[in-house]
Amino acid sequence: MTPLPQFYQFQTAPQIIAGTGSLGQLGERLQALAPVRSALIVSQPSMFRQGFIDQTQRQLEQRGISSMVIRDVMPEPTAQHIRELCDRVRGSGIDLIVGLGGGSALDVAKLISVLLTNEQDVEEMLGVDRVREPGIPTVLIPSTAGTGSEVTPNAIVTLPEQELKIGVVSRHLLPRLVVLDPLLTRELPQNHTAATGMDAFTHAIESYISTKANPISDMFALESIRLISRNILQAYRDGSDMAARERMLLGSMYGGMALTGSGTAAVHALAYPLGGKFNIPHGVANSMLLPHVMNFNKPVIGERLQDVAEAMGLEGELRNADGVIRQIEQWTRELAIPQDLRSFGISGEDVPALAQAAMKVTRLMQNNPRTMTAEDAEAIYRRLLA
Ligand SMILES: NC(=O)c1ccc[n+]([C@@H]2O[C@H](COP(=O)([O-])OP(=O)(O)OC[C@H]3O[C@@H](n4cnc5c(N)ncnc54)[C@H](O)[C@@H]3O)[C@@H](O)[C@H]2O)c1
Ligand SMILES: [Fe+2]
Repeated sequence: MTPLPQFYQFQTAPQIIAGTGSLGQLGERLQALAPVRSALIVSQPSMFRQGFIDQTQRQLEQRGISSMVIRDVMPEPTAQHIRELCDRVRGSGIDLIVGLGGGSALDVAKLISVLLTNEQDVEEMLGVDRVREPGIPTVLIPSTAGTGSEVTPNAIVTLPEQELKIGVVSRHLLPRLVVLDPLLTRELPQNHTAATGMDAFTHAIESYISTKANPISDMFALESIRLISRNILQAYRDGSDMAARERMLLGSMYGGMALTGSGTAAVHALAYPLGGKFNIPHGVANSMLLPHVMNFNKPVIGERLQDVAEAMGLEGELRNADGVIRQIEQWTRELAIPQDLRSFGISGEDVPALAQAAMKVTRLMQNNPRTMTAEDAEAIYRRLLA
């Protein structure tokens, strides 16, 4: 048995309401939360088109809460974009922020919350525990399954000039309430279902093999792996299958809880420059890298990958590390996730700079169970240029 770490900790959202149609409970739950007069809804165009912003505003109105709406959060938000959105609402007396959408909307909601109460620029908040004061209370309602951002103290910022993405990590980013309603994910297009589902799976597996893995994060990681393995293909093939959508949303939340207790590792570190410089969506970058990084890590995590294989329900000669890697490769083919960096305009000449940028993501690289050098990172990127 692997020895336990001496100390470990876990922290997440204090209240979660879940189930099909649970968005309809928001107004009622808010009343018990805190007196609110004026809310800000931070969201994306897809949520507006599907009527979820209206539905949220109506519930607020019924409780006498006025609301402002930001409905144009960009995917993979940059520091400049976050600053501009925040400036739009500064001084308007908001006492609650509702993040409604994919990880990009939730991360921006979390950041606006603390930007409005701190005299700090978003770039001063990058890193761990840099946010000085608590923010305006937030409610987070995910529409992808997903980032798990609704239960993590993290928000990811894209920095195009540094060609990188960096996290803000602070307990002040945790919400007061999470609403987990699979109806919000019903119209999520196939390509996003695939990429965001693989992001969630990556959170779970990386948390389980991280050097910071512990009994609490392990429990969430294995349950996340179990749920996602059994539902990702079904949610992709038939997006209206609410049972599969609900299990994906739970799997994604558990993945977020796992990474909160433990942390992601080299897959995420190598993915950040692909997002920061070449705009490859986060979930796509992760799924491309995942089998190759697991192959690199395999010599030191064979036993752990055996547990993963069991949680994935792999049978017979597939119930081992190689079986896990083969299954991930098969999923990425069935989910039509690109496997070649060239399709994103990347060539061999870009590889050394990508590897250098990934090595700078020390917060995540140090969680990787096998030390990765810049040469190792280059070799992994080159495998995706075959
Ligand atoms: N905070 C964290 O813990 C954490 C963890 C992982 C990733 N992230 C970050 O989250 C961001 C990615 O979030 P994401 O993968 O959820 O995607 P996203 O929020 O960027 O959304 C992707 C696209 O899907 C659309 N969309 C979202 N939900 C939809 C729905 N239900 N129906 C139709 N369209 C919908 C959005 O409008 C957008 O165009 C990245 O910036 C990533 O780095 C954060
Ligand atoms: Fe992620």
